[in-house]
Amino acid sequence: MFPAATLLCFTLLAVVRGQQVGTVTAENHPSLSVQQCTGSGSCSTQSRSIVLDSNWRWLHTTSGYTNCYTGNTWDTSLCPDGATCAQNCALDGADYAGTYGITTSGNALTLKFVTQSQQKNIGSRVYLMADQSHYQMFHLKNQEFTFDVDMSNLPCGLNGALYFVEMDADGGMTRFPTNKAGAKYGTGYCDTQCPHDIKFINGEANVEGWAASASDPNAGSGMFGSCCNEMDVWEANSMAAAVTPHVCSVQSQTRCSGTQCGDGDERYDGICDKDGCDFNSFRMGDKTFLGPGMTVDTRSKFTVVTQFLTADNTTTGSLSEIRRLYVQNGMVIQNSKVNIPGMAAYDSITDEFCNAQKEAFGDTNTFESLGGLKQMGTAFDNGMSLVMSVWDDHAVNMLWLDSDYPTDVPATNPGVARGNCATTSGQPTQVESQSASASVVFSNIKFGDIGSTFAH
Ligand SMILES: *[C@@H]1O[C@H](CO)[C@@H](O)[C@H](O)[C@H]1NC(C)=O
Repeated sequence: MFPAATLLCFTLLAVVRGQQVGTVTAENHPSLSVQQCTGSGSCSTQSRSIVLDSNWRWLHTTSGYTNCYTGNTWDTSLCPDGATCAQNCALDGADYAGTYGITTSGNALTLKFVTQSQQKNIGSRVYLMADQSHYQMFHLKNQEFTFDVDMSNLPCGLNGALYFVEMDADGGMTRFPTNKAGAKYGTGYCDTQCPHDIKFINGEANVEGWAASASDPNAGSGMFGSCCNEMDVWEANSMAAAVTPHVCSVQSQTRCSGTQCGDGDERYDGICDKDGCDFNSFRMGDKTFLGPGMTVDTRSKFTVVTQFLTADNTTTGSLSEIRRLYVQNGMVIQNSKVNIPGMAAYDSITDEFCNAQKEAFGDTNTFESLGGLKQMGTAFDNGMSLVMSVWDDHAVNMLWLDSDYPTDVPATNPGVARGNCATTSGQPTQVESQSASASVVFSNIKFGDIGSTFAH
């Protein structure tokens, strides 16, 4: 995915109006049940919860109500450098429903796109917790992961994402003792874009070199990025969907600076594979597979099954194939088949598929050079945490997912057309006003042995 976290703006006015609530908002993680299943198809329910990422939270002095960060700028007296800032500033608890539009009910999570309270919140990112202070870690080799999604209210330009990243289970508290908040407050995020908009990395504020975003009043970027392996199970809206493994040359969350981060012209020189190896049915040549009224009909809820197969069919073998199935109205729907000149009719992600796709589309193959599926599997050996988010894209308007991209070459070039959205769609100012009430619902999460999580 592309970096585009959109962050909450707390004005001083809002802080004052928040009154005592600001400093005493208790952090109550909304509950969410999930199911673990075994070969016979018997599933046991686990009572879990979700936590909001720390970047969205009110950050203020430990001693009072003064903002350490407002909009897209740091208070330079409280935060003259990263270490001092980490000492001076505290993350507060979150009003999940009221401020952020995040609600749960039983096994269902709803993320609203724009929430207007005393502040205006855009998008959110949450993680599944194992307990109050640890993310739930997933080890999905020779396993499958299944969920239901309702994207009927998620138009062009938005992204309702469900994915895994290789964060520390405790949010980094053990490795970086100056981080006193930890997973309970959603710290430690990383992904293959090595995002620079993360306010705290490795227990220090990312204030050095911080530059406010030109297009996003709620975001900026610091000198450091936060990198790690990323398995995008689902990046989608009602018009398009992609499943995309991305790998890094390193394991576990890693702070980058300079060329390592792979920014701008150095996109293919960094430690992570920013493009990934994506399977988007539309891009891979089936333009009537997923969308409103199509084979997988995004006007109503459906089930997404993702299987992580290994070379020897054991949990210790190398990850060798990622398979996708859908279930809707009681019918199992096989993934679409590739229909691209020069490519075989693949219907799953293998290293062979990735190499053929990169060649057919003329794309740089850092997925292969940084380790391919085997490296993705190693990240699952270490454990990956589950992320669910809704966001818009201040970099390229989500055109890489649902439209023609890049826009400066003919849309008929191989790999350019990705979905039916207009190239003029997805502009943040537009979607934030016209699609403010958009939302995505993820529900009925199940994981376990291959074939155990859905009726077939
Ligand atoms: C793994 O399982 C698949 C599907 O059941 C089978 O086709 C394949 O031969 C198995 N591979 C090995 C190495 O056992």
